[in-house]
Amino acid sequence: MLHEPIRNHLYIGDCLEVMQGFQAESFDLIKTSPPYADRRKHTYGGIHPDGYVAWFMPIADELHRVLKPTGSFVLNIKERVMNGERHTYVIELILEMRRRGWLWTEEYCWHKKNCYPGKWPNRFRDAWERCLHFTKRRQFSMYQEAVMVPMGDWAETRLRNLSETDLGRDESAVNSGFGKNVSNWLGRDKAYPTNVIHMATECSNRSHSAVFPIGLPEWFIKLFTAEGDLVLDPFIGSGTTAVAARRLGRDFVGIEIAPEYVKEAEERLKSEGLAFEPACLGGETTVERTDPIYNLRLCEREDRYLP
Ligand SMILES: C[S@@+](CC[C@H](N)C(=O)[O-])C[C@H]1O[C@@H](n2cnc3c(N)ncnc32)[C@H](O)[C@@H]1O
Repeated sequence: MLHEPIRNHLYIGDCLEVMQGFQAESFDLIKTSPPYADRRKHTYGGIHPDGYVAWFMPIADELHRVLKPTGSFVLNIKERVMNGERHTYVIELILEMRRRGWLWTEEYCWHKKNCYPGKWPNRFRDAWERCLHFTKRRQFSMYQEAVMVPMGDWAETRLRNLSETDLGRDESAVNSGFGKNVSNWLGRDKAYPTNVIHMATECSNRSHSAVFPIGLPEWFIKLFTAEGDLVLDPFIGSGTTAVAARRLGRDFVGIEIAPEYVKEAEERLKSEGLAFEPACLGGETTVERTDPIYNLRLCEREDRYLP
């Protein structure tokens, strides 16, 4: 029997099993960062890059079923390096999701302002991750005003004395078809952001090693949901998405296979005085032990050139 997901609740279990119990079209936004690909085939949580798409597709299908037609799915992922080159599983994943009915609406780039130091012979430090934005339809809920950014000091100086060109549409000199009208900025104190999100990685001392900064789910929650909407994170780890949702007056549903992380997530919610329903088992599968595999944001270390 399918049921309505319990709001502000952490389900302990395998996300595929847990989601199979949910009613269709339950969520306004899905925001998640899944376990990373790993070379070792049989360790829990790390999925071999060659099998990543096959592993993820049943989950992607279930996410599609439980997402509202107006909803968004934001997938934070980055392909790892194997044998000296980037593996192609993320590209294959995008293509396969499109074949299964998802629209690959946009790709946001999370620029990690404090990326790991290091030196490689064939590439530079990796300072960005993909936040792939999938939807079910071309028309979906989006609240662009909620993420507008201050114009900055430049506007005051630039707009003080407008030239004649600034007062009308100024076509690009290279005939690109682009043009700008600087006077449109008059009287505004905010501008729309770009699709590059500049944010430092999470450095606090949590026991979960793959925590994303709270600002990341916050940004997408503001952009794609309204107050009271329901946000799902099927790989919720230490509960960052749950905290972000509650802080912003949205409800959340989290799924996590490792009970120790669920405990950590609950402690985070408690420490901020955010209301939630106590966690319970949501499926047959849990793991008692977690693996340092979630440190895989460090995975390129294997390819690091140490002088
Ligand atoms: C990259 S971490 C997510 C970290 C999270 N964004 C945070 O800020 O703490 C992925 C999480 O997925 C969990 N996980 C792995 N396989 C799972 C599955 N099949 N169902 C539910 N959770 C799973 C792992 O235990 C891990 O905590």
